[in-house]
Amino acid sequence: MNLLAIESTCDETAAAVLDDQLNVLASVVSSQIELHQVFHGVVPEIAARAHLERILPVIDQTVREANLTLDDLDAVAVANTPGLAGSILVGLMAAKTLAWSLDIPLVTINHLHGHIYACKIDSGKEIFPCLGLIVSGGHSSIYHCKSAFDFDPIGGTIDDAAGEAFDKVASMLGLGYPGGPAISKCAEQGDPAAIAFPRPFMKDKTRLDFSFSGLKTAVRYEIAGPGKPDFSAVQLSDQRKADIAASFEQAVIDCLVGKTILALQKTGLKRLCVGGGVAANKRLREALQTMAAQREIELIIAPFSLCTDNAVMGGIAIEKLKAGQVDTLDVDAFPGLIRSR
Ligand code: KG4
Ligand code: ZN
Repeated sequence: MNLLAIESTCDETAAAVLDDQLNVLASVVSSQIELHQVFHGVVPEIAARAHLERILPVIDQTVREANLTLDDLDAVAVANTPGLAGSILVGLMAAKTLAWSLDIPLVTINHLHGHIYACKIDSGKEIFPCLGLIVSGGHSSIYHCKSAFDFDPIGGTIDDAAGEAFDKVASMLGLGYPGGPAISKCAEQGDPAAIAFPRPFMKDKTRLDFSFSGLKTAVRYEIAGPGKPDFSAVQLSDQRKADIAASFEQAVIDCLVGKTILALQKTGLKRLCVGGGVAANKRLREALQTMAAQREIELIIAPFSLCTDNAVMGGIAIEKLKAGQVDTLDVDAFPGLIRSR
């Protein structure tokens, strides 16, 4: 059985072919970083137009790299929630067209569930039940993952995602886009304890929530105090930049790890799976490893190649296919996160 999976929810146009044992026959990711770099963030309309230009060449290359033709495909999967409306629609329409013209089943998947499932595809281990931590450019969420069909959201950000904070703080420090890798590199020379940035909700043991928008403001005020709108003119020494980057990174890590510990305690789960672009952060990975070792938690973090957006994680559709959970061609895009999906 050959599954073609398509991913276009944000700014990566991606396709992959997997067999029913989750072996990856081909995976192609076309990143749009160069298009959004100048804006220091993803511009939805530009992303959608770029998906439109790239989706067919990406699918074509993927199928060829798998040494297959379209006729060898047995099913097509696509992420239709959550994400940018225009971007999702491009992948969804491509998937529907293939499903219709090849007369093969269409399976829609939740992009965030895919980020967690990437842990299973890479490790080959059973991952359910587990606590799922998804930390990406658009989402910071904690899930009680009961099975491939049952992801219960139990916590998340009330405003910005962790990756969004990395991107904007990098922009404020003039470090470029995407911000995550740039902050990490700069932070290597800095002192994580130099500045006591806020860690929202950390004292509140009843909530599994994050908030990163105030942290962005705190960084901005650290660069130049309130009432100084032209903070971009402030000259920071390399050491000061590194201290701000390291202290910011540490604040994010403390929040993510702190609430993950609380969620593990509340659910009693002994396995933790972590995915999403921010999971590529070296210090976060180390902090999670230390925490898991101290608490005898089985920790599976998606490999670097499957942290940022890709179509391989669409392999979760194999489980849906096996359970007969296929979609009809009138299935819609759901840009906002739908709890039940
Ligand atoms: O999962 P992803 O590719 O896209 C979304 O679904 O949002 O995540 C992209 C995010 C960006 O915000 C990027 O800055 C962040 O992941 N990121 C990192 C690192 N590498 C990528 N954040 C922190 N440290 C990194 N090393
Ligand atoms: Zn993602």
